[in-house]
Amino acid sequence: RESKRDESPTAANDTLTVVHSAAELVVGPDDDTGLVVSEDAAFAAVDGRVAAVGPTEEVLADYPLDDAETTIDATGKTVLPGFVDPHTHALFAGDRSDEFVAKLQGATYEEILADGGGILRTVDAVREASDGELVANLTTHLDEMLAHGTTTVEVKTGYGLDTETELRMLDAIDRAGENHPVDVVPTFMGAHAVPRGMDTDDYVEEVVTEQLPAVAEQDIAEFCDVFCERGVFDADQSRRILEAGREFGLTPKIHADEFAAIGGTDVAATVGAASADHLLHTDDEGRETLVEAGVTPVVLPGTAFGLGAAYADARAFLDAGHEVALATDFNPNCFARSMGFVATLASVGMRMTPHEAIRGITSAAASALGRADGTGTLRPGSPADAVVLDAPNATHLAYRFDTNPVSTVLKSGVVVDA
Ligand code: NIG
Ligand code: FE
Repeated sequence: RESKRDESPTAANDTLTVVHSAAELVVGPDDDTGLVVSEDAAFAAVDGRVAAVGPTEEVLADYPLDDAETTIDATGKTVLPGFVDPHTHALFAGDRSDEFVAKLQGATYEEILADGGGILRTVDAVREASDGELVANLTTHLDEMLAHGTTTVEVKTGYGLDTETELRMLDAIDRAGENHPVDVVPTFMGAHAVPRGMDTDDYVEEVVTEQLPAVAEQDIAEFCDVFCERGVFDADQSRRILEAGREFGLTPKIHADEFAAIGGTDVAATVGAASADHLLHTDDEGRETLVEAGVTPVVLPGTAFGLGAAYADARAFLDAGHEVALATDFNPNCFARSMGFVATLASVGMRMTPHEAIRGITSAAASALGRADGTGTLRPGSPADAVVLDAPNATHLAYRFDTNPVSTVLKSGVVVDA
């Protein structure tokens, strides 16, 4: 993945970037559940990596503005690590706004899916879309995410549900990512739903014996994910797919306990998943299982908000000693691309402090993607991915929810959105 960053069109070579005089600068997580925040602070980046961070005076003494290719005066503003969105279904086609109306009138997500709608309608639209349309659709969404501060995003397949279309989706994710400043992390999710008229065990067999070998051969996907849910894939089927994926070098992830707790947390622990996501119905035992196995919980408040459902119990996860990661879950059932809005929902809906929410969309989110290179922090050595907020402190990210407070985004030390 490192090589990809170096090949990116925005990668800097031998360049110095200095962002200075920030009212607040978020360095990264502290030892508790909060953040290390510096005031009147600066960071310097050399060749796309953070070289120094601290009081403006000290940073400028070692990295004078005159030597820098790029300088940003952040007086009165706040600097944060670039946001990491570790769970999206951002590649799709078609429109499901009519299902939004149906759900407001009482239809449930599970009923719509069982009737052949929901994910299965998006599958129809994706199978019909051309490769060019798929790349263009994803690129539009990546642009919007970047403008809202996201510098790394995971994107899942799962609207193909056959080998050909799943591979086409991975190819589109790869192509959109190559030509975009946002780092795109591809996840194979052939087990997102069962195709209409197909027996679930037969489909699991297809995923394991046909789709996974082809995905491994194509060599784009990094993770393998499964929708472990009542009426979709049960715990045994999910385990089988994730273990097979692991054999092919794909790190497991799992959609668990969204509508019912059917054993997804146990599966996550036994297969060594990087993350377990949704977790609306997880109990204390499930939380303990995850914490003992080192699985990062990813909670998705936008999904609960959009469905009018109860939020995941993020506080219980924090109390159990978890890092809690947050993601948009952007998909046709949850049309939200802004991590700032996710931070608002996490604070207002789940009682995370705004600083805990910022951890959730930065360093904890990087853990959910297995990134151990400092992504999601602005410590020396970290990728110089940063967001400048047009606001006097970090709390404003969650506090403001009407318009986008992001004024500038840097990827690998280069301004990519202003
Ligand atoms: O994470 N729950 C399963 N997958 C998505 C929804 C995808 C869709 O409805 O198109 C999710 O919410
Ligand atoms: Fe999802």
